[in-house]
Amino acid sequence: MRTRIVAGNWKMNKTFDDAEVLITDIADALDDVALENAEVVLCPPALYLEMAADVAEESNFSLGAQNCYPADSGAYTGEISPLMLHSLKVNYCIIGHSERRKYFNESHEFLAKKVDALLNHEIRPIFCCGEVLPEREGNRHFAVVKKQLEESLFHLAVEAFTQVVIAYEPVWAIGTGVNATPAQAQEMHAYIRQLIATKYDHETAGNTTILYGGSCNGKNAAELFSQPDVDGGLIGGASLKAEEFLQIVSAL
Ligand code: PGA
Repeated sequence: MRTRIVAGNWKMNKTFDDAEVLITDIADALDDVALENAEVVLCPPALYLEMAADVAEESNFSLGAQNCYPADSGAYTGEISPLMLHSLKVNYCIIGHSERRKYFNESHEFLAKKVDALLNHEIRPIFCCGEVLPEREGNRHFAVVKKQLEESLFHLAVEAFTQVVIAYEPVWAIGTGVNATPAQAQEMHAYIRQLIATKYDHETAGNTTILYGGSCNGKNAAELFSQPDVDGGLIGGASLKAEEFLQIVSAL
């Protein structure tokens, strides 16, 4: 049975003090939430991971990073390694977010290296995939997502692949207030699961957590998460307010 997950991607937001308040508010509220076969993951900016790790130790959420560099150590000014993340007990790391693909030109090949580097240190990648609007309008969205998975994930052996969480995030839905309809999300999630079944096997496909991301909020989460192949969400803007984020968690 696959784990359902709500992950908060804070992106480059919050000062240290504001981050501490948000994380403490969420942690306190999660004390009263029974998470059965489900997990909450918080991905604050890297600078705040140590503080968040202290809170996580006493609380009911897992810790995620937003990025990493695929080497253990070395002359990579400004970068953070999976080994360092592991030393802070980070459990997850977002990889392949469309903002990193767009602004930092991250290639399929580079993302494959990040996935490998994370798995070497027992950190689960939350691998983002998704098409831009012209690709959907040109009916190329399935081909685009297929290529993203093939080039950056499908080199993995099956045991390694079982550690990966996938997040389908149509780029046109990220931060726009226009979410994919539940039917559009379900259609793509079912397609992704079918790709995994073809590449690996049905059991692996059935056990893979596939999250939806893109303008998911307190109002639309329940309907999106009720789709059979939607196993939770990767939440950007709506993860920055404790109350709304917790509303999304309650939709799990
Ligand atoms: P959004 O972002 O919820 O603000 O649309 C989602 C994401 O980028 O992960």
